[in-house]
Amino acid sequence: MRVHVLGSAAGGGFPQWNCNCRNCAGLRQGAIRAQARTQSSIAVGDGEDWVLFNASPDIRTQLGAFADLQPGRAVRDTAIRAIVLIDAQIDHTTGLMMLREHGHPLEVYCTSMVYQDLTGGYPLFRVLEHYCGVEWHAVPVDGEPFTIPEITALRFTAVPLRSEAPPYSPHRHAPHRGDTIGVRVEDINTRKNLFYAPGLGSIEPHLRRYLEDADLLLVDGTVWTNDELARHKISQRRASEMGHLPLSGEGGTLSVLEGLTRPRKILIHINNTNPILDEESTERNLLNQKGIEVAYDGMEIRL
Ligand code: MLT
Ligand code: MN
Ligand code: ZN
Repeated sequence: MRVHVLGSAAGGGFPQWNCNCRNCAGLRQGAIRAQARTQSSIAVGDGEDWVLFNASPDIRTQLGAFADLQPGRAVRDTAIRAIVLIDAQIDHTTGLMMLREHGHPLEVYCTSMVYQDLTGGYPLFRVLEHYCGVEWHAVPVDGEPFTIPEITALRFTAVPLRSEAPPYSPHRHAPHRGDTIGVRVEDINTRKNLFYAPGLGSIEPHLRRYLEDADLLLVDGTVWTNDELARHKISQRRASEMGHLPLSGEGGTLSVLEGLTRPRKILIHINNTNPILDEESTERNLLNQKGIEVAYDGMEIRL
């Protein structure tokens, strides 16, 4: 299995269009050592066939930067055989609009909660009915694996995660099972597995075994501290109110990752305010010491 990072930033990307925080301004001015990043998405492939995880608003740039997704076998073609959505957030779903020229309905896998939001508060699927259409496949959230017929070598398991539903969901701040999932992707030939969770609000007991058993973790690295937006005088909203567990501090994501011996550990969905984006920051140095990596656009891992 090949895992290709298409976009490694959180919503807004890095730099964000209207942001002059230390990182965004520093990147524009060349004052910090950092790389620009597009919004959160990965592709997982098996030979010619790929599954897109999330569809970012930056998808055109991302596809342009990764030629394997355009094999050029016909006048209209793509290597994307299916799309898995881990939530209904704008940064993970808006790219579906940019795929509307597809010759037949998009094969989209998401939970019924995400389906409700994408036919309700943010009715992308309804709009797409006027273009290529969407063939919805309900993702089970009871721990049962599922398969995607077009991608025979991979097996998928959705793990319900505690995060926050999007602002347009009828249950924002009252999380329902399936609003957000993590996905374990297992290669049935090599037996290696990836656990992907770019939206993680808390690390609950049922999640532990997926983290411990993974060969590769790509997990939520949105913010360093819960009050990061307030520290930058951007907003009083805490990361936890947006469904993201901070990296640092007691009970933070790093404290859990540190205890895991098996997986390669990579942070993804990094917000532009996060000090780890500055490659010379003390926070980034701390990650280096702990052997925890930061995903970048174009990063590829073979499992
Ligand atoms: C989030 O991860 O909390 C959302 O994607 C934020 C956003 O894009 O507005
Ligand atoms: Mn997001
Ligand atoms: Zn910024």
